[in-house]
Amino acid sequence: MVTASAPGKVYLFGEHAVVYGEPAVPCAIELRARVTVDRRDDDRLRVHAEDLSLDGFTVEYSGDAGDRPDVAVSESLVEAAMGYVDGAIEQARDAAAEPAVGFDVTIESDIPLGGGLGSSAAVVVATIEAATRELDVELDREEIADRAYQVEHDVQDGEASRADTFCSAMGGAVRVEGDDCRTIGAPELPFVVGFDGGAGDTGELVAGVRSLKGEYDFAETTVRTIGDLVLQGERALDDGDAAEIGRLMDFNHGLLSALGVSARRLDEMVWAARDAGAMGAKLTGAGGGGCVVALDDSEGTLTALKYSPACEQAFRADLAREGVRVERD
Ligand code: MEV
Repeated sequence: MVTASAPGKVYLFGEHAVVYGEPAVPCAIELRARVTVDRRDDDRLRVHAEDLSLDGFTVEYSGDAGDRPDVAVSESLVEAAMGYVDGAIEQARDAAAEPAVGFDVTIESDIPLGGGLGSSAAVVVATIEAATRELDVELDREEIADRAYQVEHDVQDGEASRADTFCSAMGGAVRVEGDDCRTIGAPELPFVVGFDGGAGDTGELVAGVRSLKGEYDFAETTVRTIGDLVLQGERALDDGDAAEIGRLMDFNHGLLSALGVSARRLDEMVWAARDAGAMGAKLTGAGGGGCVVALDDSEGTLTALKYSPACEQAFRADLAREGVRVERD
């Protein structure tokens, strides 16, 4: 039996635009998905998942991964969650050249499902690591990232970038531009996260941006502008200029709103953070609902978010310097 864990992430800059080849900078945070994998004597897959949120719903299902679990979250989210686990197990079987091996898989996660903090990527990355180790195969983190990306790509109908999976596998701050993925240096950034208790549907939101881009030149230009902003953000990161990073996060949120992926509660949390003195605040991930990330080293933003009616959970999130790792072997 092997347990592996992998971190979630926030986007400092660049979500959505990264799907079209623009650069993005996600940062891993110390909220982790932990996956335990135990080889079975038969070829069946039994998946048990719990705590796939901070304190909201629980996804719990068992039996064949094709079974429909009884949970209080939207069907598309559950189908996606199951698709991610199935895909990760297929990758592990392939890596070990053991196509018919069965597993018991147990997933525990601190990361809200669909909340924009990279829950699916973390589950996929940790599952591939745990399942391959269980089969005595050791993959390097780049290969885990690559295989995890194939899974996200399939589940999201080809509308996925390498950003979430590479960041979760490697940890720290990373830069992703198309297939070019690398880790980059980052100063300690005082992240504060606000979670509205909801979730967006990544596939739908990405498809929405694609169709807007097809219909309006402004949307095409907005996507490219996000890419330009990311380049400036990288310079600010290099200089350790937190005030400039914050300003650029504010711009990035405005550009994402123009692309139609923000939501009233995300905007409310962003403004609660700004009014409380945050250096910057933006939605993180696909949007539609879920989380915002702000930069503030004082207590102001955390307190304001806790009192904001739009916010269900607020917490500080430290940069996770370590990506995927084995917890128990
Ligand atoms: C989702 O966390 C981030 C998106 O950019 C999609 C992707 O990069 O795969 C919206």
